[in-house]
Amino acid sequence: MDQALGMVDEVVGLAGFLGAAFGWFQAVPWLAPAVFIAALGVMAWRVWKLVGLGAAADEAPGPDFKRLQSLSVRKFVPWLKENLRGHDAIIDEIAEILDQGLALAKQGRTLGAFFLAGPTGTGKTFIAQLLSQALFPESEPLVLRMNQFKHPDDVFTLIGPPPGVRGFELGGALTRPVLENPCRVVLLDELEKAHRDVHHCLYDILDTGQCREKSSGRPVSFAGCLFVATSNAGVEELRAAGDAEQDKAARQGRFLDALARTGLFEKPFLARFTGGILLMDELDPLRVAEVACLKLARRLREYGMDLVFTSPAVLLEAVQKNEEFKGYGVRQIGAYLEHKTDGAIALARREGRKKVSLDIDASGRITINPVDAP
Ligand SMILES: Nc1ncnc2c1ncn2[C@@H]1O[C@H](COP(=O)(O)OP(=O)(O)O)[C@@H](O)[C@H]1O
Ligand SMILES: [Mg+2]
Repeated sequence: MDQALGMVDEVVGLAGFLGAAFGWFQAVPWLAPAVFIAALGVMAWRVWKLVGLGAAADEAPGPDFKRLQSLSVRKFVPWLKENLRGHDAIIDEIAEILDQGLALAKQGRTLGAFFLAGPTGTGKTFIAQLLSQALFPESEPLVLRMNQFKHPDDVFTLIGPPPGVRGFELGGALTRPVLENPCRVVLLDELEKAHRDVHHCLYDILDTGQCREKSSGRPVSFAGCLFVATSNAGVEELRAAGDAEQDKAARQGRFLDALARTGLFEKPFLARFTGGILLMDELDPLRVAEVACLKLARRLREYGMDLVFTSPAVLLEAVQKNEEFKGYGVRQIGAYLEHKTDGAIALARREGRKKVSLDIDASGRITINPVDAP
């Protein structure tokens, strides 16, 4: 349609030029008004398209529903539990709800929306990334850091500024990537930091599963999107509200009230997270040790070494350090272990080690020892 319109544009322009240049307007009395009316028509159509109304009849390009229905998270549960420690019940809950969302996928609803609350460094962002890898391995999750959406005008950052405003041709930070790839995990990281108006905009999107990109007028379908919001807010209130014995619906109600009491979220907005509000709390020391183990094994694998055994002393040290870093969650453990193992890894790599064990020597340094001959 746009291409045909471009042609009409050129024909009208050419007729105007030739009419004026060769005096046809005098010879053919109806030609000038005809060209004028045609030019007006084209102009009106352009304006119509520009304000986005012209696209009203367009269908939102939907995802491949057959493919979505064939997906399942349940078979990734062991892998998810292997990588994310200490949150088995939450993984089970997410998998169940998400599989339902996949089976019910259709225009007008999202695949699901989860609200993950908890102190920093407990794996909230990480689980969104793992879910993305499991469901849509070919595409990266769309990470929106909501602290960059603190101003009311950031609604336009999300869904694109109105036509003519600077940067409008780039579209919205949420809408454009979804237009390009309708199946993806959308991570609303640290949602409490976004402006209320941004919350309202997201409310509509979660409610209807679609929106219109402001800058282009193109309809956007979120039917292939899984939304995961994370938040550090209201942890104390949530801890007080939730105990394991309650039934799920009652707990959800109390979580919702508790979060609304922080004054950071409106209740109806929270209610749009139909997957539920899930509390990912601090890990106990045993889980911290497991995470440390995982991180060490992964790091050594990057250098071509198999970690066969880790001395308890190494893990004890990791757990002790974690107490010191408590404010940061297990995130800091990774950086600490990296720093602590650099020297030993460099040495072991030079010696061509393949299968190794980790230990701590008398001076408190981590050592990497061969399990096989080099
Ligand atoms: N429960 C966990 N199990 C395994 N690794 C974890 C866990 N929690 C955090 N991590 C590690 O710490 C890093 C930071 O965690 P992240 O998900 O960013 O924390 P936050 O809860 O603040 O979003 C992750 O990339 C992951 O490597
Ligand atoms: Mg995070």
